[in-house]
Amino acid sequence: MLQHWSRAIAHIWGLEGSLTQLDGEYDLNFSVATPTEQFVLKVMRPGCEQAFVDMQCLSLEHLHQQSLSAQVPVPQVITTLEGQNFTVYHDPRGKPRIVWLVSKFEGLNYAHFQPKSGVLIHQLGSYMGHMSAQLESFNHAYLKRDFKWNLMQSGWIEAELGCIENLERKEIITTIVEQFKALETDLNNLPQQCIHNDVNDYNILVQGSLNQAPYISGIIDLGDMCLAPRVCDLAIAGAYIVLDQTQPEQALAQLVAGVHSSAPLTAMEVALVWPLLRMRLAVSVVNSTLMALDNPDDPYITISQGPAWAFLQNHRMSGGLIEARLRFACGLPLNTAAKPTLAWLSEHSGAFFPLLGADIDLNQAPMVNLSVEGSSIPQDPFSIQPHEAQQLINPNLQLALGYYLEPRLVYTDKAFKNGSWPSSNRRTVHLGLDIFAPAGTALHAPLAATVEAIDNRQANLDYGGVVILRHRSPRGDEFYSLYGHLNPSSVTQLKVGQELSAGDVFAHLGEPSHNGGWDPHVHVQLALSIEGMGYDWPGAVDPDDMNLWQSVCPNPSLLLNLDHDVTQYSPPSKDHAQQVRQDHFGQNLKLSYAEPLMFLRGWRHYLFDEWGRPYLDAYNNVPHVGHAHPRVAQVAAEQLVRINTNSRYLHPSRSAFAEQVLSHMPSELSVCYFVNSGSEANELALRLARAHTGAKQIITPQHGYFGNTTGTVDISAYKFASPKARAGGLSQPDWVHLVDVADDYRGQYRRDDKAAGELYAQQVAQHIATLKANGEQLAGFIAETFPSVGGQIVPPPDYLQHVYKHVRSAGGLCIADEVQTGLGRLGDFYFGFEQQQVVPDVVVLGKPIGNGHPIGVVVTRPAIAASFAHGPEFFSTFGGSNLSCVVGTEVLRIVEDEQLMNNAQDMGKLLFAGLRKLQREHACIGDVRGFGLFVGVDLISDPDSRKPATQIADYVKNRMCEERILMGSEGPDDNVLKIRPPLTIGAEDVNHLLHMLDKVMHEVKVLTA
Ligand SMILES: Cc1ncc(COP(=O)(O)O)c(C=O)c1O
Repeated sequence: MLQHWSRAIAHIWGLEGSLTQLDGEYDLNFSVATPTEQFVLKVMRPGCEQAFVDMQCLSLEHLHQQSLSAQVPVPQVITTLEGQNFTVYHDPRGKPRIVWLVSKFEGLNYAHFQPKSGVLIHQLGSYMGHMSAQLESFNHAYLKRDFKWNLMQSGWIEAELGCIENLERKEIITTIVEQFKALETDLNNLPQQCIHNDVNDYNILVQGSLNQAPYISGIIDLGDMCLAPRVCDLAIAGAYIVLDQTQPEQALAQLVAGVHSSAPLTAMEVALVWPLLRMRLAVSVVNSTLMALDNPDDPYITISQGPAWAFLQNHRMSGGLIEARLRFACGLPLNTAAKPTLAWLSEHSGAFFPLLGADIDLNQAPMVNLSVEGSSIPQDPFSIQPHEAQQLINPNLQLALGYYLEPRLVYTDKAFKNGSWPSSNRRTVHLGLDIFAPAGTALHAPLAATVEAIDNRQANLDYGGVVILRHRSPRGDEFYSLYGHLNPSSVTQLKVGQELSAGDVFAHLGEPSHNGGWDPHVHVQLALSIEGMGYDWPGAVDPDDMNLWQSVCPNPSLLLNLDHDVTQYSPPSKDHAQQVRQDHFGQNLKLSYAEPLMFLRGWRHYLFDEWGRPYLDAYNNVPHVGHAHPRVAQVAAEQLVRINTNSRYLHPSRSAFAEQVLSHMPSELSVCYFVNSGSEANELALRLARAHTGAKQIITPQHGYFGNTTGTVDISAYKFASPKARAGGLSQPDWVHLVDVADDYRGQYRRDDKAAGELYAQQVAQHIATLKANGEQLAGFIAETFPSVGGQIVPPPDYLQHVYKHVRSAGGLCIADEVQTGLGRLGDFYFGFEQQQVVPDVVVLGKPIGNGHPIGVVVTRPAIAASFAHGPEFFSTFGGSNLSCVVGTEVLRIVEDEQLMNNAQDMGKLLFAGLRKLQREHACIGDVRGFGLFVGVDLISDPDSRKPATQIADYVKNRMCEERILMGSEGPDDNVLKIRPPLTIGAEDVNHLLHMLDKVMHEVKVLTA
């Protein structure tokens, strides 16, 4: 058959090309590749009307005649040698078929493309806007045919509802049909024009790569064109865009905003998008249900309706709120009353009756800061304690105000969460204004009102007593005010519909026992419309939706005669922080991630940005026992108010810390030095080696990192051998000798070589031999036990045994940097050297031992300490301060008390099992290695050569960050994903990480295909 159609192409268009058959529902489609170009050959079904093809060809021509700046990527019709758009050719069975040829776009179906970002959806919308504007002037007789997919004619499904057996589903479709019927007059009043009518996810092509943002490369298949209001086109595309989106409303808003950017929509059209979208889904599912009845053996038909049913059943969003969102996305006012109402409120602000009575001037009340940055309430941002909720402000304050639009971590109830993972998005931004005053304080109506609703919401952290008042501006526009945390019995006398005059007392503030459990206050919220939310107003909203909600519920200061600028919260400026950094910090101080982050709170393995958005921290190993551990904070605070001085005085905290550290060490290592950082500890380790051996020569692995001081940079190949080393005045000192990292995945000796450890160690022996030959003497060997910046490497298990044997026989010391690997992170081992079954001469500890407080520790053998003691006094002003000692001791105790090493072991097992599963599914995961919560995922672009996939690692790390999961990348080629969370991480978090990593890896598959 392919040969037949190849001949047709040569004959009709004079083209030589190879053909591949493509999918097609009714017609035959072939991809045609000539040496220079790509086309699609369309062979229409037997009996196809010429007018149908003519309509498509002319519309494509019409679209190609538009100005370049508004060009929509639609295929170009290739005319035959005789200059026709299409012709007739007989198929192999001798049947006449209409054939035509169009240009082919590169790209993947939107259905299969990942990620489906907001920017991409907006671009699609903008093309659709252009297309509908351009098709307005296109006409063709065939557009007027009867067509079941024309939304204007979709009423046919009503007669077919009997085909849906499931009652819940039937009810959903019945409701959609009823709602659609109610809109028919509005719809019929809209002008009709030619529309594409089928911008579904298989008719949209997308291109993109790891370093090119995805873009719409084509919109194809104009075979469903018809006459209808242009909003139908948008609703149909919307019906596909929302499916399988975690945030369908946001995705739809992007599409609508995109259309509006190129073809401004009217408020009426915006209002029709959602009901029409649902009607299109209803037509789809009814149509496929009927098809399934006709084709009972084709399971694909039922499967294909799955996403549409799932959407209709699971996303019962309020049409009113979606309309508000879509209007907001288009920059349209919330409704016609919104603007005049706000203008009237601001004109009269200052003259409304004072809410707490004429004697209380709220303008004199101080603002209290309950923001992410300004408050440590609650200590645990996942669970506010009753005593915290009941004492949000200083008890000495009689009156105080809480900010409008303030991000707060106090809303810890499940009801405030928008997802199922512990660090899923949550509603943090306060949409009202709080007035803190004693329980019992009377509230007076600020202006005339009708009681709209009264309720007692008894759940913990809810409102307790709550009242909603309805007001009317002189223009007749209605707006509403809500008062929460009231004494429920104070509002029971109120009746819905009751009229209040300005100044009437209508409620009293409640006690914590009946106001939801909060410090007595009233939450005041204003709403310009209750369309879609009824009486269930969100008091706090997701930061990403804050601007939308601000348009529904503006600052109630107007009603309270308060200054808007004083009562509206503004967070610490991220831009300012970045500017100061740029202007006044060294330029080689780097920020993590493409989009810099500002974190204001931490808790366990979570971080919170300036708007309270939670992040899962799978990156930072310094907060070993978790960010902001209360026990660490407490011992530090208590020590600071007592004494914090230096190691020249005796103090029990110092001996306690030494005993704690040594309790985990082999008995041979019994002398401690306390310093302030890993760098300082490694400096000291070098001095110990030199003092004990009288030598200077050091052997160390490639790509090691030991610190930022002159001495440690000298031994850190990661620094002195980096591409920028020369510009930084760095080079390899003549007393430093490098060996390969014992990397048994990518190095010269691999995992299948039983002698790999010995062979890598042989390089140490070779250096020693050369030193001897040159009359030099070895001071020691220093290595991170498991090289971290080297790529989260786990050396062969006998590597250090062989190395230490060589080093010791040459009189050198064996120094183990356990900064990254120590203190239980490995799960199976407290220190990395235990896994290697060696006892070092000097052990260096840092980072995690202070959980964020700067501490370094060096532990050595008494004989080495004795050699060092022959030299001048050793003193580090802050090393071993009382503060550092109590913090270090507490961290080690917490590791024991909370069994964090066991947790590292358990979570490590879960993580490794999940990562290995991902490795089987994603070819770019070359290796998964590590122990416990010291994990490396080595990404490759070619399984045979194991070529490092640096770009993929960069993409994955940044996309994971967008998904609010932090991880890093490491290794000489920066291609190893580094996962090193605080040891508190839980199973749900690990599953969250794996779920997202799988999703991002799928994106990689698409973007690198
Ligand atoms: C293995 C290792 N050693 C030493 C250091 C230096 O520690 P500090 O930054 O506390 O000076 C680091 C820091 O990243 C490290 O990873």
